[in-house]
Amino acid sequence: MKALVLSGGAGTRLRPFSYSMPKQLIPIVNKPVLEYAVENIVDLGVSDIAVIVGDRAAQITEALGDGSRFGARITPIHQDRPRGLAHCVELARPFLGDDDFVMYLGDNMLPEGITKIAEEFRADRPAAQIVVSKVPDPRAFGVAELDADGAVVGLEEKPNRPRSDLALIGVYFFTSAVHQAVAAIEPSARGELEITDAIQWLLTHGHGVKAGEYDGYWKDTGKADDVLECNRHLLGALNRRVDGDVDAASELVGPVVVEHGARVVRSRIVGPVVIGAGTLVEDSRIGPDTSIARDCVLRATQLTDSIVMAGASITQVPGLHGSLIGRSASIGPSDHAEAHHRLVVGDHTHVEVAA
Ligand code: DAU
Repeated sequence: MKALVLSGGAGTRLRPFSYSMPKQLIPIVNKPVLEYAVENIVDLGVSDIAVIVGDRAAQITEALGDGSRFGARITPIHQDRPRGLAHCVELARPFLGDDDFVMYLGDNMLPEGITKIAEEFRADRPAAQIVVSKVPDPRAFGVAELDADGAVVGLEEKPNRPRSDLALIGVYFFTSAVHQAVAAIEPSARGELEITDAIQWLLTHGHGVKAGEYDGYWKDTGKADDVLECNRHLLGALNRRVDGDVDAASELVGPVVVEHGARVVRSRIVGPVVIGAGTLVEDSRIGPDTSIARDCVLRATQLTDSIVMAGASITQVPGLHGSLIGRSASIGPSDHAEAHHRLVVGDHTHVEVAA
């Protein structure tokens, strides 16, 4: 079996981050979403992995390397623009050959892994094995309709009027029959070759399509709030580990990780919190539910339920909550005494200030 990971796309819902980094590299508990995907695939014993990359190919390649770090071999495949999930399968055809494969959307988080789904697929190799999960509002997803016996009746991509509350999770297992389906379908109204249409084609033409309901935690990290929610979820399983320096005037409460080379000075940290390597936290109150990446500086700051990315600095900001702070961003007081705020923020940035 081979694997195809989709890590191109536009990421418009994660602006401004997606202007400078692929959304699949957003860190959850200080590790890019995409790495969780690759680890889940390697756990299946699959080591031949193609990764679809778009404009930000260099960053993805830098993050994953040749795959040897994961015990895998990674082959990047370039897509000129986001032309749809089924287009990715078409592009990867020479790599995939006639092998069975797992297709994994690089922005999907399934921290409990996908081994059970793989076992179901391997047991009787339907043309497509899909995974569904109940969601409150399925209109933002592919939606599957199942009959009383759990057989797939139909599929629709982002329907206005969903026929069920079962969203398609971004993990699919296919045999080579899918290539015939991909070749047969036309682009949808939004101009993309939809994998949902390819699976519907398989169904209509009498191929086996099986669905299983996922019983673990799943999140599509396409939006900032979902990224924070997922970060909270994973932090929930954190165990205390202190490899850095914590001075006597500081207090750590609950599960707190202080990475090697990090320093905590005159601060109170209420877990779950991760403080990345080389980061300085001084005169601050951090947590709960917060991850701070490496080489950041936080001084005289209060921060809860947030993600701070590498190299950021935050000084004298009380009451920061539910925030995503980008790489090397700096937030703090001006050098002048005037009582005003001065913002240099990128396009589509979202700032909320206390009234
Ligand atoms: O998260 C589950 C949902 O993912 C499913 O329920 C939907 O059926 C499926 O279409 C997909 O919907 P999204 O709108 O979330 O897809 P998105 O555009 O975010 O793309 C998913 C991943 O695939 C993401 O990592 C970007 C990558 N991608 C996307 C397109 C359209 C590519 O690499 N190339 C592409 O052309």
